[in-house]
Amino acid sequence: MGEHAPRGRRAGIEIAPPVERAFLIAVESGTEDGWSARESLEELASLARTAGAEVVGAEWQARRHPDPDSYIGAGKASELIAAKAETGFTLLIADDELSPTQQRTLEELLEVKVIDRSRLILDIFALHARTREGRLQVELAQLEYQLPRLTRLWTHLSRTGGGIGTRGPGESQLETDRRLIRDRISVMKRRVDEVRRSRDTGARARDVRGDQTVAIVGYTNAGKSTLLNSLVGSEVVLAEDKLFATLDPTSRRVRLPGGSATIITDTVGFIHKLPHQLVDAFRATLEEVRRADLLLEVVDAADPHLKEHRATIAGVLEELGVDEKPRLVAANKCDLPGAATADIPGALRISAATGSGLPELRATLERELGEQGSPINLALPYTAAGMIEALRGRAGLKIAYDDDLIRLTGFASPEVAGQLARLALPGPQGKRETTRAAKRK
Ligand code: GTP
Repeated sequence: MGEHAPRGRRAGIEIAPPVERAFLIAVESGTEDGWSARESLEELASLARTAGAEVVGAEWQARRHPDPDSYIGAGKASELIAAKAETGFTLLIADDELSPTQQRTLEELLEVKVIDRSRLILDIFALHARTREGRLQVELAQLEYQLPRLTRLWTHLSRTGGGIGTRGPGESQLETDRRLIRDRISVMKRRVDEVRRSRDTGARARDVRGDQTVAIVGYTNAGKSTLLNSLVGSEVVLAEDKLFATLDPTSRRVRLPGGSATIITDTVGFIHKLPHQLVDAFRATLEEVRRADLLLEVVDAADPHLKEHRATIAGVLEELGVDEKPRLVAANKCDLPGAATADIPGALRISAATGSGLPELRATLERELGEQGSPINLALPYTAAGMIEALRGRAGLKIAYDDDLIRLTGFASPEVAGQLARLALPGPQGKRETTRAAKRK
């Protein structure tokens, strides 16, 4: 721990704030999503460590619903006074989003700062956002989270400086009112919209070139960045054994064995109980998932919670409206003992770290992408050479230069297939084969 601990600067001297001693609490309320309170708390503990805290204890309470006043119920809450004396915790973290009332009750009872899982995840996102786009989206999510908690948050917590739960956007605005925060939210939304528009322009440029795209999706720490690094062949994306090490989408051109290429984007990691403010704020980033021709779901096959992780991913993909998109599943970390893939029918066994299974993955990507397009078998005049050159390297498309014509075979998106067919030479040598394209449309 420590490398990610927030550091403050006072009077020009670099100082590290004291490490928070975190105590975790959860409610076991029947596990419709497959997670038990214990498992969810284990994950919460690794989130807390990623944020730089030391976890000194955890408790959960079985009850049908969280208590509206104190989350875990008055009895259990009073027991925490003894736990505080014993462990000296300085921070209480609840596994579910707390209402302002629940938070205030616990803070007043225990006289420590109380935060929830959403706030913790937002803090980690704030620590890891590197690009302007990432920072914008995190700030928007933080503001949306803070707005309903504003009155008490701003007046109740006078503490400033580093530490979990204090890294908000615009800390200087602590005394400002809701209207100012709402104004700021509108500004941030406009900026995020600008980002989305510039992304659209980039995507259109790719569409003209006919590049097909693959979006890597997966649970946090599944190995998405490591896989993209291995596929590209260089250390371009940060891969760390921390949750949410990469936050900003990174797109790279990846060569496929048949000589074609595709754009692969590493998107944000998903997590159980991902705060809805983040899903909303990260729409621009998650657009990459919506736009992709194919989703590559990366699963940590050595993780005992593999099933629950996949259920979470399925839930977020459904929320994004992309659950019907063609999907390829890569069971990663197969180099580790205990990697189970029996539960994932059709998954490719890979190890992004050792490179095993990657040749098969590349070949399957090429084949699947090829199947996304329409079959092409066209002869074009040399006057179309400029456009054809722009298509070079596109997954599934082969270009052959004959004496007096250029022959194109393979697969292309319905749009590109249509454009090419209009340029094709008539007659048997320029045979048009766009029937499947027409049917698909
Ligand atoms: P987020 O950024 O949190 O979404 O994580 P990610 O899915 O991008 O995971 P990342 O690539 O950062 O990898 C997480 C950890 O798993 C790192 O410590 C990697 O070295 C490790 N890892 C990734 N792939 C493999 C693998 O095939 N085998 C083993 N043993 N470890 C792996």
